[in-house]
Amino acid sequence: MPSSPTQRVGDTVSEGFSKAPHLSRMWSLEDVFDSEGLQKWLIKTYKLDKNITFYCEPKYDGASLNLIYEEGKLTQGITRGDGSVGELITQNVKTIRSIPLTIEHKERIEIRGEVVLYKDEFERINQERAVKGEAVFANPRNAAAGSLRQLDSSITASRNLVFLPYGVGENTLEHKLLSQRMEYIYSLGFKRPPLSTTCENFDEIEAVYEEMNKNRDSYAMMLDGMVIKVNEIAAQIDMGYTVKNPRFSVAYKFPAVEKITTLKEIVLQVGRTGAVTPVAIVEPTNIDGVIVERATLHNFDEIDRKDIRINDKVIILRSGDVIPKIIKVLEHERDGSEVKFERPTSCPVCGSELLDEGVLLKCQNLTCEARVINSIIYFASKPCLNIDGLGSKIVEALFESGLVKSVIDLFDLTLEKLLTLEGFKEKKAQNLLDSLEAAKGSEYWRFVNSLGIEHIGEVASKTLSARFGSSFVDASKEELVALEGFGEEMAESVLEFVRVNRETILKLQEILKPLEPLQREEAKENTFKGKSVVLTGSMSESRDVIKEMLEALGAKVVSSVSKKTDFVIYGEDAGSKYDKAVDLGVAVLSEQEMREKIEQA
Ligand code: IVH
Repeated sequence: MPSSPTQRVGDTVSEGFSKAPHLSRMWSLEDVFDSEGLQKWLIKTYKLDKNITFYCEPKYDGASLNLIYEEGKLTQGITRGDGSVGELITQNVKTIRSIPLTIEHKERIEIRGEVVLYKDEFERINQERAVKGEAVFANPRNAAAGSLRQLDSSITASRNLVFLPYGVGENTLEHKLLSQRMEYIYSLGFKRPPLSTTCENFDEIEAVYEEMNKNRDSYAMMLDGMVIKVNEIAAQIDMGYTVKNPRFSVAYKFPAVEKITTLKEIVLQVGRTGAVTPVAIVEPTNIDGVIVERATLHNFDEIDRKDIRINDKVIILRSGDVIPKIIKVLEHERDGSEVKFERPTSCPVCGSELLDEGVLLKCQNLTCEARVINSIIYFASKPCLNIDGLGSKIVEALFESGLVKSVIDLFDLTLEKLLTLEGFKEKKAQNLLDSLEAAKGSEYWRFVNSLGIEHIGEVASKTLSARFGSSFVDASKEELVALEGFGEEMAESVLEFVRVNRETILKLQEILKPLEPLQREEAKENTFKGKSVVLTGSMSESRDVIKEMLEALGAKVVSSVSKKTDFVIYGEDAGSKYDKAVDLGVAVLSEQEMREKIEQA
């Protein structure tokens, strides 16, 4: 039966999830970050309607979910997806105990909310994973989203997810106020927020925000702000939506969290280019549900500039997904036990002498273990050959065992060799061999990018491939400098790399057989020809397809927005790139508008 407790166990293993449409669209929220932003939003909103009040509730940091109930029964659970269509995860959703399987509301209704992991549960899961040698989740949001999309629903069931409702989609409710509507939803058996209230004006909203921010540590779930919604439903309907957001609601984000801790050690990391970067190891500190043990120090100048010493009490800051950083040393807390950090002169991994370039220190030894391991990891990463199952742990194990000392060795791996490694059973070994095989015949630019030539990233690799294909190894300096976006330094870097590694490049090319790029005919005149374009948000097709389409028209698709950007093309749920474009006065086009222009072309 739909309400049977057995539904909570999770006894299905799916092959994959099918797509399902939401009955009405799931929107995102505009963000404000301070009282000035709030004031501006209020002025804008009051212009639409003077007679409004507000409903404030927490902004939960998790994964959004749409629940469809028909005749009082939960029939579908759908992830947000692109806002119109999501993934159907009903079996997993049924394992979440705070989601009623049946409700006393018989008309069709969509209940929307956020699926979260409470902070203590997040810690429990991560500890369990660490013991098993599995990768830990970076934050409760990723953990919640990952848990929700498990193919084996018994795993979802074991994660103790919690659903917190924040609104409805399609509905036949007749309440005049959102606060009444939310009361009704809670009365159906859904969880209440730790704090929600109605407010009349700016001062009242600010006071609730202050209280929520002050107490955020004491709440079981992670919050990243407070959501303010117009309380009168008729006014909400009148105000409507912009392309992305409801005009009647805004997210007032909390500031990043700062904590005081002790700097225990500074360790050095050597990247694939040989750059040595310092990393602070701090006394483990819980910042908003995540145990922080490391913080970036950026570079050696930063250590000098901030006069950071080992044993110092420091303030660290963590916001959202970014790596925590040390923002300040508490010099008045010093007791004499602090030790200045000496700039290293030799590589912490291979011991060879470091090249001191001022801000950067570099290990020059091409065979340095750290450089080799990180180059292999980079070679296999997403924007390069995108080899599944070749993460850092496996690369390290392959290197330590002596099986792989360079990227070329990867392609000499066999089942027998892999089975000698700890933790490798037949299936895992075969999967890795299959992924390596699949890397063959990739696009040529991926091959170029995977070589890790200094100063040559994804965009430059594409330019280089499109112009020369495999004869890039014979390009002259003049030809290289003439490429769009190339300068002297990049051209030199390519020449030097080819000079030192020609043999390896040719050998790898022989093994991988990357596809020679189609020599594109020059595109006819069109809106996008020669223009710099940024894509943001989710589109109706994969970004790669859209990128390819625009590149065929002669556009250059780049990743960040600047004054030089000609167009920002946005899909559903577009974020900061859209906002930046609007701020900078860069033209923005919806996916639909882009398609119309392409059609005209
Ligand atoms: S209302 C009508 N309320 O934040 C607008 N969203 O940044 C729909 N979220 O996708 C959202 N807590 O997943 C709303 N109290 C809350 C929320 C909330 C968390 C999430 C939601 C949404 C995202 C937008």
